[in-house]
Amino acid sequence: MQFFGRELADYRAMFDLTDDQLRGRSVLDCPSGPGSFVSESAALGARPVGVDPLYAEPLDVLLARGRRDVQHTIDRMRAKAHAFADIDLDAYAASKLRALDRFARDHPSGLAEGRYLAASLPSLPFPDLHFDLVLSAHLLFTYSGPEHGGILPDSPFTLAWHLRAAEELWRVCRGELRLYPTTTRWESPSRHAWAEAVASRLQERGARIRWQPSTFARGNHAADTLNACLVVTR
Ligand SMILES: C[S@@+](CC[C@H](N)C(=O)[O-])C[C@H]1O[C@@H](n2cnc3c(N)ncnc32)[C@H](O)[C@@H]1O
Repeated sequence: MQFFGRELADYRAMFDLTDDQLRGRSVLDCPSGPGSFVSESAALGARPVGVDPLYAEPLDVLLARGRRDVQHTIDRMRAKAHAFADIDLDAYAASKLRALDRFARDHPSGLAEGRYLAASLPSLPFPDLHFDLVLSAHLLFTYSGPEHGGILPDSPFTLAWHLRAAEELWRVCRGELRLYPTTTRWESPSRHAWAEAVASRLQERGARIRWQPSTFARGNHAADTLNACLVVTR
């Protein structure tokens, strides 16, 4: 699994979020990775907490791992350039390194102030209904096994894990939960069957759901009308 982070601009696109939806809100970003969403949204006036199991490591280890994983991802994308023809890979790499750099600068004070916390789904160290907004990108569905539409061979993230993880994200949310992406990573993407299963499970718990089109462009997902985040509200 890649220790890989993104910038606030990516979060706006992935989750179809405006800055006004962030300002003044408590926001959970899980997994947060070595990204700059926490730092940038705090500067906007949100109250974000980023959660990732790797935050148990010291900053120098996180930085080395982050740099290695950005390089690895870019190398893989260059090797499959046809699939990413609509992406400027130099700009893409620069954005990931900017995110990592901003994460590193925010990390010392963020750790002291509780903005970065080490924990793992499906178990989060927060009371029920704790956050106004809960965001989760590039873990659920993406890291399921290739046979299910994800990218992680021998994935430990089964359907049962997905249902537990989604219920846990929902438990700590008093407003809105957004999950992205919700499609398979196959050459011709379709909606991930487990995204449908998660939506049904949360609906059974009384949640309302909608599929919110996302403008986040990623190779073969760019023109895909199924490119949407799952929005879950109370
Ligand atoms: C590709 S990154 C996604 C980061 C960010 N949300 C984004 O979209 O750029 C995946 C992250 O999931 C984290 N992770 C792995 N297992 C996890 C778990 N059980 N619960 C929460 N995060 C996990 C990894 O450490 C890694 O940082």
